[in-house]
Amino acid sequence: MKQDILSHLPGDFPWQVQYFDLLPSTNTYLKELAAKGAPHGLCVIAESQSAGRGRMGRSFLSLANRGLYLSVLLRPNCKAEELMHLTCAVGLAVCDAIEDATGYQAGIKWINDLVAGNKKLGGILTELSVDPATANVDYAVIGIGINLSGLTFPPELEHIATSLEAVTGNVPKRDILTAKLLIRLEQISRELLQKKAAIMTRYRDLCVTLGKEITLVRSDACRQGTALDITEDGSLLVKFSDGSIQAVNSGEVSVRGLYGYL
Ligand code: BTN
Repeated sequence: MKQDILSHLPGDFPWQVQYFDLLPSTNTYLKELAAKGAPHGLCVIAESQSAGRGRMGRSFLSLANRGLYLSVLLRPNCKAEELMHLTCAVGLAVCDAIEDATGYQAGIKWINDLVAGNKKLGGILTELSVDPATANVDYAVIGIGINLSGLTFPPELEHIATSLEAVTGNVPKRDILTAKLLIRLEQISRELLQKKAAIMTRYRDLCVTLGKEITLVRSDACRQGTALDITEDGSLLVKFSDGSIQAVNSGEVSVRGLYGYL
């Protein structure tokens, strides 16, 4: 399988790939390697995960032969505050890779969900390690999970989750999609700091949250509003029902019309 992926990469592709049948979580494993000094561009792929993790402490279902589960280690030479748009940039790279491999244009639910046909196609989990003394980024581990095949999901996910097979009618070729994803990620990792404005312009185009009614859940409080825009640092600009406009950069945002939210 690893050879199949490598055969679809350019001969001079600069990143290294480690491939596993099963890991608890590619993000957890890669963070351990990062703490021991693993290099920029190390990529870990698992056929399945026994403890796949999502944002906000959620689990991410990672069954063998059903999805693509991958993490990549970046060591950008910058301050954490310069990388606030990292998850957005990766979302863009993932959508581009899916389109390269399948012709299907996926969307993004702010900030890290990949969506197709009003359901969740996958997600991105970004984990940063920052030197507290300097605020410099030591490393970023970015995990990506994409549901590739399967027309049905467990009852608790059936109204929320979808797969590329369900939306395109075809099971995508995993090795080709993985290679396209690595190529797009490597490209965006080089453009992250210099092409920030262009990256965010494209992210806004793909973001299905914009213009929609949303509910923000933060610290057990629920607030209704409308998503107006996304700032350069990836925050969601929301006009709340009390008329105030605020930039939101944390919390769970439900979008009316998505994942069965009416
Ligand atoms: C989310 O939906 O909130 C993010 C899901 C991210 C899942 C991927 S699968 C590969 C990597 N390893 C993990 O444990 N999580 C990410």
